[in-house]
Amino acid sequence: MASRHQHNVLIIGSGAAGLSLALRLPPTCRIALLTKADLNQGSTFWAQGGMAAVLHSKDTVDSHVTDTLEAGAGLCRREAVEFTVSNSRRCVEWLVDQGVDFDLREAPRSRLRKEFHLTMEGGHSHRRIIHAADRTGRAISEVLTDRVIAAENIEIFTHRVAVDLVVNDGRCEGAYVLNEQSGHVDLFQASSVVLATGGASKAYLYTSNPDGASGDGIAMAWRAGCRVANLEFNQFHPTCLYHPKAKSFLITEAIRGEGGRLLLPDGTSFMQNFDERGELAPRDVVARAIDHEMKRLGADCLFLDISHRSPEFIKSHFPTVMARCAELGIDISAEAIPVVPAAHYTCGGILVDNHGLTDVAGLYAVGESSCTGLHGANRMASNSLLECIVYAESAAQHIAENLNQLLRSTDAALWDESQVTDSDEDVVISHNWDELRRFMWDYVGIVRTNKRLRRALHRVQLLQTEIAEYYGNYKVSNDLLELRNLAMVAELMIQCAISRKESRGLHYTLDYPDLLPTANDTILTPENSPL
Ligand code: FAD
Ligand code: SIN
Repeated sequence: MASRHQHNVLIIGSGAAGLSLALRLPPTCRIALLTKADLNQGSTFWAQGGMAAVLHSKDTVDSHVTDTLEAGAGLCRREAVEFTVSNSRRCVEWLVDQGVDFDLREAPRSRLRKEFHLTMEGGHSHRRIIHAADRTGRAISEVLTDRVIAAENIEIFTHRVAVDLVVNDGRCEGAYVLNEQSGHVDLFQASSVVLATGGASKAYLYTSNPDGASGDGIAMAWRAGCRVANLEFNQFHPTCLYHPKAKSFLITEAIRGEGGRLLLPDGTSFMQNFDERGELAPRDVVARAIDHEMKRLGADCLFLDISHRSPEFIKSHFPTVMARCAELGIDISAEAIPVVPAAHYTCGGILVDNHGLTDVAGLYAVGESSCTGLHGANRMASNSLLECIVYAESAAQHIAENLNQLLRSTDAALWDESQVTDSDEDVVISHNWDELRRFMWDYVGIVRTNKRLRRALHRVQLLQTEIAEYYGNYKVSNDLLELRNLAMVAELMIQCAISRKESRGLHYTLDYPDLLPTANDTILTPENSPL
């Protein structure tokens, strides 16, 4: 039997964005925190390199801002960049207060003062990445999870998949949520709803992301009437492990930050031929260079070599990468690591302001599902965990200030299952998943053309018709919901890509290889937008 739940705030997602937002709200606020898997299964848990912040005495907010703007290829919203970067130190302090154990410098300049070890990544002109070895996301996730479990005002619901938002008179008042254990779709009502559902990189066949990165929040917000922006900017991480048994394993950019070299199969280094910053050029440049060399040579992968550093150094800085490679028979202290690019980060998303507020009253989006303007056409490495923590704080403040707006309607209808039956053809779902992810990889990948994008659009529209028919006739399941959302977000990505008549940042097309003189966001508006 479907049930009805009521809270002050409903947070959908338990990554860095959702967890920190829940902890930033006042303890008097009754919160429901939903996750479609266990608490620690979003991208946050897998983040390796770290979080960018202005911490070094010689680093400045201006320098971090300038690097971010440059990586974003003219499309960042300066106000969002300045807002995020100027809050970076405070957000690190908050994480440390929560108990996150970042690595310290072995020999600090002053013995009296603790100093964090800061590593380097592409696009940054300073060492400014604070980290916990190469498992920073895990360190953050575990500490925040413990805090959330201990908080009496936060009720946690795992294995609950939000299906769609409830919008009444232009205000978001909750969500329909599949309870995977009971099989029923429950109604969660709240005066503020937060989408902290992560990105959509599962739209691609090869990705660094865990299962579940299916753009659910972006699709739900679009259906609810929110504008989305810049979804053509899919970031491909240059170095994911290439091995038949390695599903989605990232080789952190910090390896290049500590001197790792990219090599062709014959051992030649090549990045200097593409960019004077070599291995530490922004990600779009490095990923395109690798893609170019792989296609030129017909190679299945290229290589990343850190074996010139001592085994002790490698073990202390990159224990996770070292251990995973060792399991697959690769000793990274003695040999180069086979790598390929893979879809990694969704730079665009639901349009929000500096409080994470969307176009629909009462609805917020925070973290990778949102488009704050910080990343522009290309996210700089390690700016995303920072964005999650900074915007979670500002959204929490805004929500807390508006908490007196009580639920206006408590009589929203329960989910109607009377017209649907159990599916007898799950193969349709798995087939369509595979088809979607393959044509997105082939036609909407690192290098695009008009023809490939039009092919992809045609296919995704056919798929959407088939999925809509299936959705209308059968009971919902997590796989069906993810497929439905992914197909919708894939179409939005393709529409954005088709409308950009230039190559900028992560969007590179052979038909328009040049940059237009003016940088404009690609904004899509749904028919039922309140604006
Ligand atoms: P996530 O952490 O992805 O969490 C999403 C949450 O939403 C999950 O709990 C999920 O279950 C839930 N959810 C989704 N849909 C639904 C639904 N329909 N119903 C209910 N719940 C739902 N960034 C950095 O800054 N530094 C790094 O070093 C770094 N390394 C990375 C390494 C890897 C391998 C990956 C994949 C990403 C990395 N990133 C890094 C990017 C960064 O980790 C993510 O952008 C960030 O963690 C996203 O956090 P989030 O809270 O927005 O979403
Ligand atoms: C990495 O460790 O290379 C990932 C960093 C990021 O995505 O920001």
